[in-house]
Amino acid sequence: MSQFDVVVIGAGPGGYIAAIRAAQLGLKTACIDAGVNKAGDAPALGGTCLNVGCIPSKALLQSSEHFHAAQHDFAEHGITVGNVKFNAAKMIERKDTIVTKLTGGIKFLFHKNKVESLFGKGSLKGRNGDLWQVEVDNKGEKSLIEAKNVIIATGSVPRPLPLVDIDNVNVLDNEGALNLTAVPKKLGVIGSGVIGLEMGSVWKRVGSEVTILEAMPTFLAAADQQIAKEAFKIFTKEQGLVIELGVKLNEIKNSKKGVTVAYEAGGQAKEETFDKLIVSIGRIPNTEGLNAEAAGLEKDGRGFIKVDDECRTNLPNVWAIGDVVRGPMLAHKASDEGVAVAERIAGQKPHLDFNTIPFVIYTDPEIAWVGKTEEQLKAEGANYKKGTSGFAANGRALGLGKAKGMVKVLADAETDRILGVHMIGPMVSELVAEGVTGLEFKASSEDIARIVHAHPTLSEVLHEASLAVDKRALHG
Ligand code: FAD
Ligand code: NAI
Repeated sequence: MSQFDVVVIGAGPGGYIAAIRAAQLGLKTACIDAGVNKAGDAPALGGTCLNVGCIPSKALLQSSEHFHAAQHDFAEHGITVGNVKFNAAKMIERKDTIVTKLTGGIKFLFHKNKVESLFGKGSLKGRNGDLWQVEVDNKGEKSLIEAKNVIIATGSVPRPLPLVDIDNVNVLDNEGALNLTAVPKKLGVIGSGVIGLEMGSVWKRVGSEVTILEAMPTFLAAADQQIAKEAFKIFTKEQGLVIELGVKLNEIKNSKKGVTVAYEAGGQAKEETFDKLIVSIGRIPNTEGLNAEAAGLEKDGRGFIKVDDECRTNLPNVWAIGDVVRGPMLAHKASDEGVAVAERIAGQKPHLDFNTIPFVIYTDPEIAWVGKTEEQLKAEGANYKKGTSGFAANGRALGLGKAKGMVKVLADAETDRILGVHMIGPMVSELVAEGVTGLEFKASSEDIARIVHAHPTLSEVLHEASLAVDKRALHG
């Protein structure tokens, strides 16, 4: 029977990165994954993120932005294009090519780093002395391997909505939403979270009428509300997304005519029939098929595998990382936990600061933040100061034709240490990295204000916002 120092179950951004790092550190490593490609005829590494999440969604966002720009933005640059046409199937084909390239890239990385890649469902079978026995079930063909350490990285799956089944024909989860080959005339979305906004934006830009129904009365409750309010205004008033807040769903009927949703909003009973309905109401941890109960693996009340701050489960030498454990369901959080666990197994003492994990929503304008929101600071009774600056007068943003949005820097009123950086604007997914570095190095807003920022760049808006904390903005 093959024996390994580390067996990783799941090859998403948590698992595949953990496996590579463990192998780099000289540990004999195997990674088991059950993922298959879109056609269902071959294994596909990379998990949710590469196959039906981060990467494909960003590909579609880019295609739809180009189409929108050709129709609405080119003219002001003096560019006249003829009758601009959109081919949804071609957009999906491009996305699939990117996915195939990246999932194949992991196969190559496994080979290069000598990670043994095993296809099938992995489960904890029991102990043989200090070793864990792990079963690999490849479509009924079962084999056992042994490991000193097991890292569980089995990710998450869409939260089901009890009112309706996902058929991925009319009622879609993320997988279906990323594979529509025709533009729905009317698209409904349940949940105005990250997937709802990103997917809603894609299909709106290419011609769908999009209505998003959100249960919460507050838009993007986790984001800084000054940024969220700006986003709501742009998405609804300027871009034409219909976003209903405080919605109570009553009934959903999926028929040949379409999907009819009966709901209440603002004290009124309403009904809408959509050609397609995306359900994006969050994700739940995936522990199916792990044999967790029999193995005695503890979970919390919401089904997440219980771990300590260093990703140790209650079982000896069994670790868990990524979406299947507490914390934000983000690819970079999963990967960084994977690196840290591999290093801990190798005897190192890595540290992961959960307060400096960046969040990004890839709408246009993008939304990004790191650290505390102003609402959190108020609730904590913190003594803070703030500086804001807009993209409206930023030369680079004007040149790009994307001069909307703002940056806000929150800092401790006494020490000036940066507590949070919040952004809405062009490419803020990239800009937020400077805020992350600042928080990680415990920078003050003055540090950012004194750093030379290239001109003309979008980063000058963060520079100005940092100057504004000390009321000395130069362009404000
Ligand atoms: P996963 O990526 O879910 O991978 C788990 C893997 O384990 C899968 O391959 C699965 O097949 C395998 N598996 C499960 N059980 C078993 C088993 N018993 N045996 C063997 N294999 C098993 N995050 C971002 O940071 N940025 C984004 O832009 C972003 N966009 C997203 C867009 C969408 C539409 C969605 C749905 C998610 C997005 N996310 C994004 C979230 C991101 O995809 C997840 O946080 C990330 O994939 C979690 O990584 P993971 O390794 O924990 O799990
Ligand atoms: P989400 O948690 O971001 O949003 C779900 C939304 O649905 C919430 O606003 C919630 O209030 C609402 N909701 C819940 N039940 C509802 C109901 N019955 N009726 C109406 N609304 C309801 O989850 P989402 O968008 O499904 O995404 C899942 C996860 O994937 C995210 O938490 C995020 O971690 C990850 N993701 C990250 C991305 C990024 O980093 N850019 C992009 C897409 C997904």
